[in-house]
Amino acid sequence: MDLVDQRRRVAVLYGTRPEAVKLAPVVQALTRRDGLHPVVVTSGQHREMLDQVNTLFGIVPDHDLGLLRQGQTLDDVLAGAVRGFGSFLDEHPVDAVVVQGDTTTTFAGALAAFHRRIPVVHVEAGLRTGDLYSPFPEEANRRFVSVVATRHCAPTEASAQNLYAENVRRSDVTVTGNTVIDALVQVASRQSDVGDPIIDEALRTGRRILLVTAHRRESWGSGIRDVAEALVRVANLYPDLLIVLPMHRNPLVRTTISPVVRGVPNIHLTEPLSYEAFSHVLSRSTAVLTDSGGVQEEAPALDIPVVVTRDTTERPEVVQAGGAVLVGTDQQRIVRTLRELLTNEEFHRRMAQSPNPFGDGLASERVVDVVEDVLGVHTPASRAGDPREVPVEVPAVVGAV
Ligand code: UD1
Ligand code: UDP
Repeated sequence: MDLVDQRRRVAVLYGTRPEAVKLAPVVQALTRRDGLHPVVVTSGQHREMLDQVNTLFGIVPDHDLGLLRQGQTLDDVLAGAVRGFGSFLDEHPVDAVVVQGDTTTTFAGALAAFHRRIPVVHVEAGLRTGDLYSPFPEEANRRFVSVVATRHCAPTEASAQNLYAENVRRSDVTVTGNTVIDALVQVASRQSDVGDPIIDEALRTGRRILLVTAHRRESWGSGIRDVAEALVRVANLYPDLLIVLPMHRNPLVRTTISPVVRGVPNIHLTEPLSYEAFSHVLSRSTAVLTDSGGVQEEAPALDIPVVVTRDTTERPEVVQAGGAVLVGTDQQRIVRTLRELLTNEEFHRRMAQSPNPFGDGLASERVVDVVEDVLGVHTPASRAGDPREVPVEVPAVVGAV
């Protein structure tokens, strides 16, 4: 019997909550392929918010760089992740590295792999706002990764076009859809209690919910304070509305929001919700007010209007499709848009019914096809249990790639 493991080793590196959500289905898809062996490495750029997602998807990382520090700087995370992941690669050789998105972990992972001439597959490639400082530092991170990546998995045709415009070879780009839809498909059908009495009561009674998230670095300080002040005005205007705000673990975000909204009875601050609970609340919300990238993709898949508290978006597809509006952090615009959504049924219906531009739930399989292509291995799509053979159950979560 041949005891030598012939499978090709594929390192999957991630460090923050959104990367974990979007790479969990990729890890699962890699595991299903005969010729591949995923090696999961986390930078630990996030801790609690990362562990929540790993636990939900049953992923136990093979290695954790343990980087998180309170008040960590961009330099700390970048230097720590390049060194830490680089040493890992030296000690545990792999055949390819997969990274996702635009965080500092993503850039560090791609760079460390590039330094060792290991092929890099970039998931969610080609997103651009055109403004290097918005979002900061993500717009730069994603461009850096595009320079060193071997293959680019673009979620949409528009993101592929962004790469072509930067002279990335067409043969190196594959439009895969966004793997966030694959993750959402897995949890969307579970409608269990959230475990928070106030939210569960609202879900049971059909009370209107406005879900809110805020964390962007370029909005730290006055931007996030303006969002919080706008929420107080909306809460006072609509006492029947429950505003649910799961707060990012970043202390800078918390100390800005908490004093502004404290004592307002229909604003409910919580710890970060599990991905399953968050998706459930999102699917039952009247609208979501957010600066998150991932939430801009999930909400249209669940037919929920998105109000984006940013001046730019690298996800113009959702704005063009009519599912999102950009309002920045301007209080007047936030209040005006939310009032419209809460009172004008036709406006709400039009936004809610816009198409989901981000995929069909099979993006991870396409990403792993790309990985196999890079490595010159091929698993036929006819294996038992292969989702490529079986149409996925997609509640309202469908969209053409
Ligand atoms: C990071 C990413 C951003 C991504 C966001 C998702 C960078 C530069 N930023 O931003 O692209 O959109 O994650 O949420 O890569 N903290 C904890 N526990 C956690 C997570 C965070 O305590 O589980 C606290 C720590 O004090 C940490 C701070 O939050 O210092 C900020 O975390 P950091 O990863 O540096 O930046 P984010 O704003 O979370
Ligand atoms: N999310 C979550 N719990 C929460 C808030 C968000 O699981 O309390 C999920 C959300 O569904 C999305 C991801 O976290 O998949 C987005 O993460 P974040 O907003 O931190 O980062 P971004 O997408 O802006 O990079």
